[in-house]
Amino acid sequence: MKNVAVVGSQWGDEGKGKIIDTIAQKKDFKAVVRYQGGNNAGHTVVKEGIKYALHLIPSGILFPEKTCVIGNGVIIDPKVFLEEIEKIESRIGKNHAKILISEKAHLIMPWHIIRDGITGGKVVGTTKRGIGPTYMDYIERTGIRMIDTEDKNVFRKKVADSASWNRKLIETMLDFHKVPKKERTKLDLDEALNEKTITESYWNYLLKIKNNSSITIGDVSLYLDSLQENNKGILFEGAQAILLDVAHGTYPYVTSSHPTVGGLFVGTGFRPRKLEVIGVAKAYTTRVGEGPFPTELFDEVGKKIREVGVEFGTTTGRPRRCGWLDLTILKYAKLINGLDGIALTKLDVLTGINPLKVAVGYKIDGQKRDTFTINIEKLKQVKVIYEEFPGWKEDITKVRKFKDLPRNAQKYVNRIEKFTKLPVKMIGVGPDRKAVIIK
Ligand code: IMP
Repeated sequence: MKNVAVVGSQWGDEGKGKIIDTIAQKKDFKAVVRYQGGNNAGHTVVKEGIKYALHLIPSGILFPEKTCVIGNGVIIDPKVFLEEIEKIESRIGKNHAKILISEKAHLIMPWHIIRDGITGGKVVGTTKRGIGPTYMDYIERTGIRMIDTEDKNVFRKKVADSASWNRKLIETMLDFHKVPKKERTKLDLDEALNEKTITESYWNYLLKIKNNSSITIGDVSLYLDSLQENNKGILFEGAQAILLDVAHGTYPYVTSSHPTVGGLFVGTGFRPRKLEVIGVAKAYTTRVGEGPFPTELFDEVGKKIREVGVEFGTTTGRPRRCGWLDLTILKYAKLINGLDGIALTKLDVLTGINPLKVAVGYKIDGQKRDTFTINIEKLKQVKVIYEEFPGWKEDITKVRKFKDLPRNAQKYVNRIEKFTKLPVKMIGVGPDRKAVIIK
């Protein structure tokens, strides 16, 4: 059975949740797997008219017959995890997917969130969920993993060691960044870094997680391998996107994990034999946080896209920066991920905009190119080469067949296929779960 990975092909928020939902319904997938990131992600799942805003739990959670897997590459804030699952169970009881969490997954601790608030928030515009500092400690070998929570004494010792070191580190950071006294007092480090309080509160969250009969903490590699052996399908859900990848994105304006398909292997400890990779892209471009964005719009069109597309962050509520579709980015996403096809979302948001523009290249230092650049200094200065397209006015939200789209909408999609040399396999035409054209 063919497995599928769904990955973001721009700067995140492409609407991956809906695409995953559509694929999960159509095909016989036993597991939906997250392999990187943490609760910096955000997606909404809908069941029986009720919306659930999820940040950490994979999108497959509302399918009772499936298993949601949280791989070792994902970092877990146990409080957030517990809140998400309790919210779901308060509505639908145990009628949700089973959950398997990797024993190798690292925990986001209170000091990570404090550290992220001091630096990350200012420099990169992070979500301040402690993502960067948790991955820092993971790489530095001072992190605390699920496996360290088997024995309370082991856990207590790890918390005590980390809390005292983090106290020193955070005070140094506050001094270095000249954080005013008022803000320091607000942080209340005595309480926030109290090792006893942290050990007890975390132990409490973890006990609740472990005592939940739908949740297992264990070996993700073995489980995924057993699915493969039994010819069961696996759906991999990338969070964030290529340009936020710490290796391949617009560094340093990136997240601290690997949303590209390569992250899947390390982030699960599993190599799928057959894998189709679908890149999700909006019909335009958005980004949150700092960093260059060549096709960004500062005019009425940008404002319209933000309002019609409801482009406000699910995790932080921040307005997203909006701009024209940049095909050089999709070409780059194809290269790095080995994409097999594109799922284009939110085409309906462009209805009524005339003309439409699409970036097909850049002029850098007088030289034309039709490829993206991750050189941040160059990216700030590029002159974008656009192609213009006539728009359409018709409401496309009820269209379910490609041939029924307005001619100009078809031309827009055809240009994407021609430029990227990839098939556009799915097209989102409205907020409704069913508003998808399968090509
Ligand atoms: P962090 O992931 O909180 O460290 O934030 C690093 C950068 O990634 C910031 O620019 C965030 O706005 C961005 N980011 C993180 N998660 C998402 C997401 O799910 N969608 C869009 N941007 C994200």
